[in-house]
Amino acid sequence: MKSQEFLTDIQTLRRRAREHIERGAVTSGYAADRETVIKLLNEALATELVCVLRYKRHHFMAAGINADSVATEFSEHAAEEQVHADQIAARIVQLGGEPNFSPDGLATRSHAEYVEGGSLAEMIREDLVAERVAIDSYREMINYIGADDSTTRRMLEEILAKEEEHAEDLVTLMAGMEKH
Ligand SMILES: [Fe+2]
Ligand SMILES: [Fe+2]
Repeated sequence: MKSQEFLTDIQTLRRRAREHIERGAVTSGYAADRETVIKLLNEALATELVCVLRYKRHHFMAAGINADSVATEFSEHAAEEQVHADQIAARIVQLGGEPNFSPDGLATRSHAEYVEGGSLAEMIREDLVAERVAIDSYREMINYIGADDSTTRRMLEEILAKEEEHAEDLVTLMAGMEKH
């Protein structure tokens, strides 16, 4: 009987699962505010897409000025931001929403900015600023979701860890630049 205090009985679980089956992964036990989570995820998607574009620009510009190791780093970050964008878009669909890939208003929906940067040092600095924006916004989203949607939360935690790695990479690049 003790388990009944915090677990739903099998009959109720089975009955609930049959209700609204068209909602797929979103069951009646989904505790988060689905609309808000989808809205937040679309802002994160815009952020990742803007980061892909900025890192791509920086990759090709750095390659043009013979900064090959930095160019390679930018390219790797661009690819990882694209992975994040894909993960977020897939989760939005799983929650019954629609991922917003529209170029109209992309820069406004994004938390991070698209700054071209004139020199290699400026590119690195702007990328670092954008990563720090992403880190704070992911942390806020994770705190907001709390225990209400553990799948979204786990995805955001993995992305956050990667953004922290990116920021660390950029600090290392910045330190390397200052030595020269
Ligand atoms: Fe990312
Ligand atoms: Fe990043």
